Amino acid sequence: MTTPAAENTLIGPYRLSGPVLLAPMSGISDAPFRQQCLAFGASLAATEMTASDTSLWNSKKFRSRLDFNDTNGIRIVQIAGSEPRQMAVAARAAAEMGAEIIDINMGCPAKKVCRKLAGSALLKDEELVKKILAAVVESVDIPVTLKIRTGWDPLRRNGVRIAELAEASGIKALAVHGRTRACAYKGEAEYETIRAIKSAVNIPVFANGDIDTPKKADQVMRWTGADGVMIGRAARGQPWLFEQVAKFLLQKVYVPRPSLGAQRDIILAHLDTMHRFYGEHTGVRVAKKHLKWYCRNLVNADEFCFQVIRANSSIEQMLLTKTFFDRTLKEFETIKDPASGESRLWRRQKKLPHLKKDPSKEARSLSQM
Ligand SMILES: Cc1cc2nc3c(=O)[nH]c(=O)nc-3n(C[C@H](O)[C@H](O)[C@H](O)COP(=O)(O)O)c2cc1C
Repeated sequence: MTTPAAENTLIGPYRLSGPVLLAPMSGISDAPFRQQCLAFGASLAATEMTASDTSLWNSKKFRSRLDFNDTNGIRIVQIAGSEPRQMAVAARAAAEMGAEIIDINMGCPAKKVCRKLAGSALLKDEELVKKILAAVVESVDIPVTLKIRTGWDPLRRNGVRIAELAEASGIKALAVHGRTRACAYKGEAEYETIRAIKSAVNIPVFANGDIDTPKKADQVMRWTGADGVMIGRAARGQPWLFEQVAKFLLQKVYVPRPSLGAQRDIILAHLDTMHRFYGEHTGVRVAKKHLKWYCRNLVNADEFCFQVIRANSSIEQMLLTKTFFDRTLKEFETIKDPASGESRLWRRQKKLPHLKKDPSKEARSLSQM
């Protein structure tokens, strides 16, 4: 199977700019991170899951989750809940706030969501799924998409039935995480069910789960026939992954990670956006998480990482980051590995004093230094 020309995928009237989407992740895919990923070519980046009980939307937490209007790209808001009417009200409210697409979460296994029979727990009750989808689709005149897992547990992998039901209900695209609700994040994602779903429906299907390299994305696209891939955890600390994966899928071009100088600028810009978006206290706290992920991808950075995740002010976080990169850039040079195309750090050689032709004169001049 060949990789489909996913750049042409349409969700309602919206044409995606590429085949790689950012997965919604509560506590991670906030507006500053979405902005980063979109800048690197993610073609869609939904908000973190938002509870469908709109009476909660005035809280600080939900106000920041629903702050999506400044982000470039298609404004897609994810809602979670189990009450069809409440979900419909939430969808309409999000549309009135400027959402261009509503995404329904039936993929999250978090206990807090499942105890209330929402997220992936809904997959157990196909009648309720039908009611929710119908209520939400009818309540808005913008496209509605759905995110699911492959089923409730390995013995009840009803992903194909849910997908067919979704298409019949007017859902415009599906993202499928290749695990069941019972699997949580254990084991490896399977793509067989995603392949079956893709061949069962005519709406765009995005494959999700454990996609962490351009090569893996390519394999999953070929195997499932999906219209694109959705990447979550692997994007933490390396938002440039979207560009690497998209270029590989579309042009078979391998894009190396950004140079050290470019990484410095990306991280500093991300820190600045988080500090501004959340304010000093929360901004510093949220930035610590992201700094930890950035640190995972850095070499020779143990001391910097130790210090920066303990820094307690925005200025300290910025200064430590800038100093680390500037010093590393001075001490090391970046050398391109001809085999992989990846950049490697190489300690700059200390320049030896220039040897003069006459060794006896050289010895004299050195001893005089
Ligand atoms: C910390 C965390 C938070 C998540 N929050 C959401 C969420 O709010 N909505 C949702 O649909 N899925 C959520 N997910 C699931 C991801 O969207 C994605 O399906 C899952 O991580 C598998 O993809 P990956 O292997 O690329 O990370 C979350 C996952 C993680 C790790």
